[in-house]
Amino acid sequence: MIGIFDSGSGGLSVYREIWKLLPREKYVYFSDNANCPYGEKSREFIVGRAEAITEQLLERGCDIVTVACNTATAAAISTLRARYDIPFIGMEPAVKPAALSTRSGVIGVLATAGTLKASKYLDTRDRYADGIKVVEHVGQGFVELVEKGILDGPVAEETVRRSVEPLVEAGADVIVLGCTHYPFLSSLIERVAGKGVSIIDPAPAAARHLLEVMKEKRLVREDGKPDASSPRDADIRLFSSGDGAALNGIFSLL
Ligand code: DGL
Repeated sequence: MIGIFDSGSGGLSVYREIWKLLPREKYVYFSDNANCPYGEKSREFIVGRAEAITEQLLERGCDIVTVACNTATAAAISTLRARYDIPFIGMEPAVKPAALSTRSGVIGVLATAGTLKASKYLDTRDRYADGIKVVEHVGQGFVELVEKGILDGPVAEETVRRSVEPLVEAGADVIVLGCTHYPFLSSLIERVAGKGVSIIDPAPAAARHLLEVMKEKRLVREDGKPDASSPRDADIRLFSSGDGAALNGIFSLL
């Protein structure tokens, strides 16, 4: 059984990609929305939450966990890997594919403050963006919009504009979505960024990596329900530490 967690509903953007590759699997999704957003919280706090959530996922029978949150991956994945004897799949901001595809030599990264200051991100940036200008911006207010289910309209557009325009003005022709909530705003981000700017969501790559690890560890289910025809009719149980309505709202859009 695959466990997936995030500070809120954002990780459903990763679940959606995983389900495309593994429609017969069983899933448990945990939204820590009582503590959302994680973006400005301390590393210690996030590690504590990641451990408590992992315990719950293990109790529910998960044998592999996707940390469907860039902020929690940056803060906690090494602690989780050291402490628990199951595989963990994390999120990586897609700096490498962005650096390979830019023509202007400028890439934009949208992520939380926690991700942008973490050594995991800084190491990736230094390794793959050599000779490329990287412009970073926190998607200020994006997580809150997604948690409220506001994915379009004037308020959402203004919020998105404030963080995306500085990247475009700096010459970015590729923008990396370094937070799993942001793909739910991708149509708006694309519209604000305009033609000629491509948007990279790292979720499909994370899903492919999960599949590889599951094959290697022989965790892929051969039996079970016939293939689910949509992510909503897959064998998935949703849990949250706070209000379940927010999670169900985004789930119903998948
Ligand atoms: N979805 C998360 C991420 O990928 C966390 C956002 C937040 O809670 O601030 O970073």
